[in-house]
Amino acid sequence: MRECFIAPSILSADFGYLMDELKAVEGEAEYIHIDVMDGHYVDNLSFGIPIVQSLRKHTDKILDVHLMITNPEKFIKPFVDAGSDIITFHLECTDDPVELSELIRSYGIKSGIAVHPDTPIELILPFVDKTDKILLMTVRPGFGGQGYMEISDDRIKAVRKAIDDKACKTLISCDGGINKTTAKRVYGAGCDILVAGDAVFRNDDHAAAVMELYNIAVG
Ligand code: DX5
Ligand code: ZN
Repeated sequence: MRECFIAPSILSADFGYLMDELKAVEGEAEYIHIDVMDGHYVDNLSFGIPIVQSLRKHTDKILDVHLMITNPEKFIKPFVDAGSDIITFHLECTDDPVELSELIRSYGIKSGIAVHPDTPIELILPFVDKTDKILLMTVRPGFGGQGYMEISDDRIKAVRKAIDDKACKTLISCDGGINKTTAKRVYGAGCDILVAGDAVFRNDDHAAAVMELYNIAVG
């Protein structure tokens, strides 16, 4: 059986108690998903480098930083220094995804390439073996709590096939609208890392929510 990971997205956490929120899911989650938004690439602002720095001091979980920002190349080094384990940039925000992926890897961490749902899926396929993770947006980037886009199943399958054809170890992550209703189809279509914001942090028992999503996904 393919591995399956649930990655809680702290965008939906209560920021007034951020470390408590993270501690609540640490026992059940390997990856912590951290959404950075700049108000340019997406119509929203979230948080940046200091949050990664602060979380790094208190956890050894994999900090997976999702940059929804223009000019991501300017911010790679600061996010590396802050303690990121994976930095994911958007395909739409760079002219040279291979060079940017190599820059990230040159710091000894992993790279990811994210794809907007409006971007034809064919555009990411040449790069599946040039990065450690493909992040498929399954909602429009910018906000938590949206509904899963139905077109995503076929997009996940296309990326899964490209990875399997090239026999590379690149992981597929899916981001947006993943909950008890959609987790199984997303994993079934070929996703490895299921990002979940509201489904984890809007549930009073965050740890139980992570476990439940995992069980539904692989069940
Ligand atoms: C949206 C973010 C997501 C968000 C997902 O732009 O990239 O990571 O936290 O939230 P849910 O799981 O609530 O759709
Ligand atoms: Zn995200």
